[in-house]
Amino acid sequence: MSQKKSKKKPSLDTTDQRKLWYKNAVIYQLHVRAFYDADNDGVGDFRGLAKWLDYIKDLGADAIWLLPFCQSPLRDDGYDISDYKAINPAYGTLDEFRDFVEQAHARDIRVITELVVNHSSDQHPWFQRARRAPPGSPERDYYVWSDTGHEYEEARIIFIDSEVSNWTWDPVAKAYYWHRFYACQPDLNFDNPLVIREIKDILNFWLDLGVDGFRLDAVPYLVEREGTTGENLHETHSVLKIIRAEVERRHPECVLLAEANQPAELTLRYFGRGDECHMAFHFPLMPRLFMSLAQEDSAPIVDIIEQTRALPDDCQWALFLRNHDELTLEMVTEDERDYLWHVYATHRRLRINLGIRRRLATLLNGDRRRIELLYSLLFSLNGTPVVYYGDEIGMGDNPFLGDRDGVRTPMQWSADRNAGFSRADHVALYLPPIHDPLFGYGAVNVELQRSMRSSLLNWVRWMIRARRAHPAFGSGEITFLRPGNPKMLAYLRHDENEMILCLVNLCETAQATQLDLSEWDGRVPVEMFGGCRFPDIGVEPYTVTLPGHGFLWLKLLPEDEVETAECVPFEASRPDLPAPDRPLPTRPREREKDSQVVAEEDQIDHEGHDSA
Ligand code: GLC
Repeated sequence: MSQKKSKKKPSLDTTDQRKLWYKNAVIYQLHVRAFYDADNDGVGDFRGLAKWLDYIKDLGADAIWLLPFCQSPLRDDGYDISDYKAINPAYGTLDEFRDFVEQAHARDIRVITELVVNHSSDQHPWFQRARRAPPGSPERDYYVWSDTGHEYEEARIIFIDSEVSNWTWDPVAKAYYWHRFYACQPDLNFDNPLVIREIKDILNFWLDLGVDGFRLDAVPYLVEREGTTGENLHETHSVLKIIRAEVERRHPECVLLAEANQPAELTLRYFGRGDECHMAFHFPLMPRLFMSLAQEDSAPIVDIIEQTRALPDDCQWALFLRNHDELTLEMVTEDERDYLWHVYATHRRLRINLGIRRRLATLLNGDRRRIELLYSLLFSLNGTPVVYYGDEIGMGDNPFLGDRDGVRTPMQWSADRNAGFSRADHVALYLPPIHDPLFGYGAVNVELQRSMRSSLLNWVRWMIRARRAHPAFGSGEITFLRPGNPKMLAYLRHDENEMILCLVNLCETAQATQLDLSEWDGRVPVEMFGGCRFPDIGVEPYTVTLPGHGFLWLKLLPEDEVETAECVPFEASRPDLPAPDRPLPTRPREREKDSQVVAEEDQIDHEGHDSA
């Protein structure tokens, strides 16, 4: 960093920019079955999702990560795939998927899907064939077998609330098969070159359908070896290099996103030397965000980011607060886990395995200031933010539902029947919508929040716009300052063109601190949203005060740029978003055409679509 005014550097050329799209992206994670039900059978579908693409665009997201939607018996919500090239018919057809991708692309929204390759469903024809095939045959060896069920004893059990062993006896094969998750999810055998060939084939099938990225599910467990924990093995990384090479060959703009819930140094390995995954979820950081907030102490966040800052070129963390799984506490110490359970999940029912099955708003007791604080970190720390559907409105959960279903309930569109998600009979819904008085769809829904200026939804939209207006958040560096007051977190996000100071008060009550900003002597802090000029920086310690759980984003500008600096004022949601029962909006690619032709074509298209 230099205090001298630097000339604005030319931005990356467009090819590089296109390739690195994920660095400045905002990802919206959703399950198609939970989003919108267009055919009123009680289950969300691709036609329904396509209807709401403008909502996602208006939120400011430019990539969608879809939870699994392939053919599956749904024993693990689709992470148990029985046909990798077919869509669960309840969600639609391949043509409808293709149409959804086209419509997303027309809005410059990319689509990331799941590559669930550690395991398949036991209903997959590969498994059915394997259990009947002679031991040692290539068909049998699609999976991992044992006569005794005593191998790999050092591998931990992940779903400790439901499984007692990683081996299950198969009476047809007359042997045990290996599974790191549910017994209905036999692990594929990556020592078999035929399996690797199948995976490449699946990857290319979805690339040909226009997919822009893959989340690699459960990726640390691909290969098992005696005497090891079966996690993060060298051989697993070799498989990842093969997958990356295939992606580079076929579609260099496609990203690979690792789900590797591991300690910091092991999670970092999933980037390889820039030859494995482009992104990895920041599992080491996530629980520490909640820890810092609970302890009102910046140290957990600063320490973990310092340990995980060195990434190969072009790699990026994916940041998240919550997702479709439990808030995992597998990788913190036992004391830390007990503490976090004590703070965030007092009742046993709120826990599952080694985690907490709650959504963001319920975890924080609906406390808007703490929700905003965590969002401010999500959107300003070093990584690409991933927002879990419904958390942008502060949707609730239902801890009485089994497994992790309580955080996977229908999107709360309106106060209408079934939360405006579906017109099916209530009993046909895939899961009941949340209807408790604080977080249920009567009080918390998109329709209401779009019309309320101060709603969480409008506030999140505003934050996303600010983030996107400042590329330093996406691809810049992070430097922590060391304020004397540990309840205050202070960091700079900076690149060749921008210098942003982020300040956060982790404490419930107002705090003050002093910062050494002498390196930026002469710069002027300008508040990012409203453009308010703050006192100039000098060589003396700079005093900052913040109300309880408050945060500030300040641009540090040279004096001669203050006048012309742009801020990010509030903007209302687009008024033309569809309401659930209105017809599909005009597709953007058609908007470019002559409006007369568009009107006619639209009519034909909608009629065709609706009667289909
Ligand atoms: C991943 C998924 C989780 C699933 C598991 C097994 O961790 O996020 O939902 O149960 O893999 O596939």
